[in-house]
Amino acid sequence: MTMKSPAILKALTALVLILIALFLYKGVPMFNEIRSGTKPNYEVGKHMGAEKCGQCHPQIYRQWSRNSAHAEATETRPFLDFKDKFTGNFMFNAMMGEAMCYACHGSKEVNEGVNCETCHGLASPEEPIMQTHEKKYKPGMDRMRSGQFCSGCHNMQSPFSGDAILSVYSEWLKSEAAQKGVTCQKCHMEPRGGDFAYHGFDSVSRNIGIYNDEDLALTDIVLDFPRISLKVQNLVTGHAIPAVGPSRILVLEISLFGFDGKEAHSITETFGKYYNLMPVFGIMPNSEIRNTQLQSGEVRKLSYTLPSSLKDKIGKVELTFRFYDVSDDHQGDIKKAHHVSEPFIIKQITF
Ligand code: HEC
Ligand code: HEC
Ligand code: HEC
Ligand code: HEC
Ligand code: HEC
Repeated sequence: MTMKSPAILKALTALVLILIALFLYKGVPMFNEIRSGTKPNYEVGKHMGAEKCGQCHPQIYRQWSRNSAHAEATETRPFLDFKDKFTGNFMFNAMMGEAMCYACHGSKEVNEGVNCETCHGLASPEEPIMQTHEKKYKPGMDRMRSGQFCSGCHNMQSPFSGDAILSVYSEWLKSEAAQKGVTCQKCHMEPRGGDFAYHGFDSVSRNIGIYNDEDLALTDIVLDFPRISLKVQNLVTGHAIPAVGPSRILVLEISLFGFDGKEAHSITETFGKYYNLMPVFGIMPNSEIRNTQLQSGEVRKLSYTLPSSLKDKIGKVELTFRFYDVSDDHQGDIKKAHHVSEPFIIKQITF
């Protein structure tokens, strides 16, 4: 008997919670907004598959499948892990479920991530393919070249806090590039090695070489003991760096070496957008904790005080950038990254 009452209590509490959840779910507009997040951002149905499109568009198919993270958006380990965590949460699962993830990452049944038909529209097996081109693909090009096209997936506000979780598009809207009419496609799909739109949508997880000192600059590095100072500038006129968030963090490592060539001291600076996406209890606050992203065009001056023991002992300073992918539950702790990019933009100064 004594063993049973806590179990009954638990069951009753669960029932009350379910009733409250159902009430909220039906009654509050916010929950309708949450439900609408499960609506796919693409045409739903059977796919011909990317390989078939690739029979006549082999170069585009190769760029997409080799270089683009779109091609594996429904299959990566981080995606599957986060999806399990999301659906493992009672409230999230009842309100949205995994449908919310597939709304942007591509159809679960097809499992090819964001493929040709996700963006261009479905090809029906009942219709000759060139007829689909005339009816759908050709007239669709205006929509696809527009500034809004990427926004359905590359922008997301938290329905709970209103904070921008994915914000590339809203950053772009306010940017110098948008004012000049330079769209996402203009920068990301500029033809390379052919006269057709590039479909590699480069990603640091596939090719770190995409970032160079035209995107990110390190200047004015001055060692005036005990201070070391420098400037970091985001030269991308379209959006912040890192563009991707909340899981990607840009890390600047400053290593100071003695005259014997051994590392004597190091400083780590991080740039990113830190989120509390899934707090332990339920759904709140689901909001931004801190934002140190380099905004479009921003020049940030950084300055550090070195330990006095290093006086007259520094022979060389080395500065290195890397990107780290850190799952949101680690709150930006780069030691827990599941992916670290190769270093890029390395600067050395000897004294
Ligand atoms: C049988 C060959 C063939 C297949 C299969 C094929 N295409 Fe095409 N596609 C073409 C040709 C040829 C053109 C150029 C059409 C023209 O200029 O008249 C084209 C052009 C296009 C265009 C550009 C339209 C424009 O106005 O610039 C898009 C977009 C496109 N295809 C998408 C697709 C997608 C998506 C698939 C797969 C569902 C696909 N194609 C499969 C032959 C094919
Ligand atoms: C149907 C939704 C959808 C559309 C439309 C879409 N994307 Fe994406 N995009 C994604 C998803 C999901 C990912 C993440 C894939 C992953 O990392 O697993 C992604 C990844 C990317 C990446 C790589 C980022 C990274 O972290 O590696 C770039 C760059 C990119 N998209 C650019 C664009 C551009 C430019 C457009 C518009 C022309 C666009 N995308 C349209 C869903 C979309
Ligand atoms: C509004 C569209 C949208 C929705 C909804 C969405 N994603 Fe994404 N997701 C993206 C885009 C775009 C990217 C890549 C670019 C970025 O991070 O800005 C991305 C990136 C990711 C990444 C990082 C990719 C990597 O390989 O490190 C993970 C993990 C992820 N999403 C998981 C999920 C899960 C799980 C869900 C469902 C709970 C979900 N996403 C819902 C659009 C979306
Ligand atoms: C993330 C969305 C996205 C995906 C995935 C995608 N496309 Fe495209 N595609 C576009 C956009 C946007 C344009 C127009 C770009 C421009 O002209 O600025 C385009 C243009 C094209 C064109 C016309 C090229 C030209 O310059 O004339 C063809 C053909 C095409 N796509 C075929 C494909 C095929 C085949 C696949 C799959 C292997 C594919 N696309 C996957 C978004 C996508
Ligand atoms: C003025 C040019 C420009 C415009 C406009 C622009 N971007 Fe970018 N974007 C870049 C550059 C440069 C990078 C750095 C890496 C590279 O070269 O691809 C980048 C990086 C990214 C990344 C991160 C890739 C990664 O793996 O870290 C994503 C995602 C992205 N852009 C999406 C978009 C979307 C979506 C839009 C439109 C809303 C857009 N960009 C508009 C130039 C631009």
